[in-house]
Amino acid sequence: MDHFLYRDGALYAEDVPVAEIAAAVGTPFYVYSTATLKRHFSLFDEALGWADHLVCFAMKSLSNQAVIKLLGDAGAGMDVVSGGEYMRAKAAGVPGDRIVFSGVGKTADEMRLAIEGGIRQFNVESEPEMIMLDRVAQSLGAVVPITVRVNPDVDAKTHAKIATGKSENKFGIPISRAREVYAMAGTMPGLKVIGIDVHIGSQLTELAPFEAAYRKVAELTEQLRADGHEIKRLDLGGGLGIPYARSNEAPPLPTDYGALIQRTVGHLGCEIEIEPGRLISGNAGLMVSKVIYVKSGEDRDFLILDGAMNDLIRPAMYDAWHDIIPVKEPAPGAAPAKYDIVGPVCESGDTFAKGREMPAVQADDLVAFRSAGAYGAVMASEYNSRPLIPEVLVDKDQFAVIRARPTYEEMIARDTLPMWLE
Ligand code: LLP
Repeated sequence: MDHFLYRDGALYAEDVPVAEIAAAVGTPFYVYSTATLKRHFSLFDEALGWADHLVCFAMKSLSNQAVIKLLGDAGAGMDVVSGGEYMRAKAAGVPGDRIVFSGVGKTADEMRLAIEGGIRQFNVESEPEMIMLDRVAQSLGAVVPITVRVNPDVDAKTHAKIATGKSENKFGIPISRAREVYAMAGTMPGLKVIGIDVHIGSQLTELAPFEAAYRKVAELTEQLRADGHEIKRLDLGGGLGIPYARSNEAPPLPTDYGALIQRTVGHLGCEIEIEPGRLISGNAGLMVSKVIYVKSGEDRDFLILDGAMNDLIRPAMYDAWHDIIPVKEPAPGAAPAKYDIVGPVCESGDTFAKGREMPAVQADDLVAFRSAGAYGAVMASEYNSRPLIPEVLVDKDQFAVIRARPTYEEMIARDTLPMWLE
C-alpha cells in the first residue's frame, strides 16, 4: 500500500499534486511519502511485537537525512554498511545503540569511527575482519558486541545480482564453519559475542528460503549455546520483497514474515533484529520524469524521457520492472499505446522498458515510475554530466526539497584543476 493515488484526474503524493512539485522543482526528481514510510516501518515493528526487537532500516536503500530522521524518530534502528552511512545515521540523530554495522569489508578507520561514536553491534563477516576488529577495539580499550554473519547456503530464488546466501557468494562465513569461528571470537579480548547474523538476499517474494535459513540459525543457536557462548540476539537480515507490478500477486506481508520468525526462532528467547530496506522505502517513492519527445522508429515508438539510467539504474542493472504511469489520469477506456521507454544517455542500456503498454502520452507530459523509493536516488550518479537528481519529501499537504539538484556551476566546481594546468 502507498500514498500515491489519482484524485480529480491527477496523481497525488499524499495531498500534494505531483505536477505541482514538478513545476517547483523541475524534472526528473524523486518524491517520498512520509505516511508510507512510517506505515511500512510500523508494520514490521508490530509484526515483531511478540519479542524484544529492533527494526533496523537498511539505509543503503534510501539514505537521505530527512528519511533517516523521520524513521529514527519513529523508533527505527539503522543498518549501516559504511562509515558514510554511519555518519549519516548519527547526523540524523540516531543513537549509536540503535546502529548496526554490516558489510563485508569494514576498514579499521570505519571500525574506529563506530566504536568511538557508539555502536549496537558489528556483524562480522570473516576471520580477518574479526582479527582487525579485535585489534581496533583493544587499541581503544573497548570491548565491542558482535554477531557473526553466517552464510546458510540457501537459494533465495531472486535475481542473481541480489542473492547473497549461497555458498558461492562473498557474504558471511559458511555455517558449517560457524562453531570454529565463534570459538575463535571467544578468545578475543576486544570482542563480546552476543548473537548470530544472517541475510540471504533481497527482493524475496516467498517465505520458504527465509524459513530454511532461520531454521538453520535456530539449530546453530542451540549448538553455540552448548559450546558456552551467550547467544541472546538474532539479526535476521532484510530482503522481504515488494510488488513491482500492480498486476503481480503480492508477496508475503510483514505480518506473515513476523509469524514465520516466531515459528522458527521464537522458542529461543532471543532479542530479534531485522534489517528491511526495500519493503520500507520501495513503494514510498516515485521517480517523476517528463517526456521530451515521442519518436517514431521503424517498427516501434520511443518515449524519450528526461530521466535516465543515471537517475534510476535498476532496469539497466537488474532488468527490473517499474510500473510507469502518466501523472495526468488517463480517461477511462483510453486506448493504450506501446513504447520503448528510454532516457537520453548515450547507451542502449539506457532503456527503462521495451514494448511497454501504457496510456498514450505526449511531449511535455509527466510520467511517474512507481516503487522507486528503494535503491533509486542512492544509486544515482552524474553520468553524462547530468546533475544529481533531487529528492522531495511530502507530508500530508506540505512538501520540501530534501536534496536539491546541483546547478551546472556547482557540479563543475567539484572538480579542481591541478596547479600545472591553471
Ligand atoms: N541487510 C543486508 C546485510 C543487506 O545486504 C541488504 C541488502 C539488506 C539488509 C536490505 O535488503 P532489502 O530489505 O532492501 O531487500 N540494489 C539492489 C538491491 C541490493 C540489496 C543489497 N543488500 C536493487 O536495486 O534491487
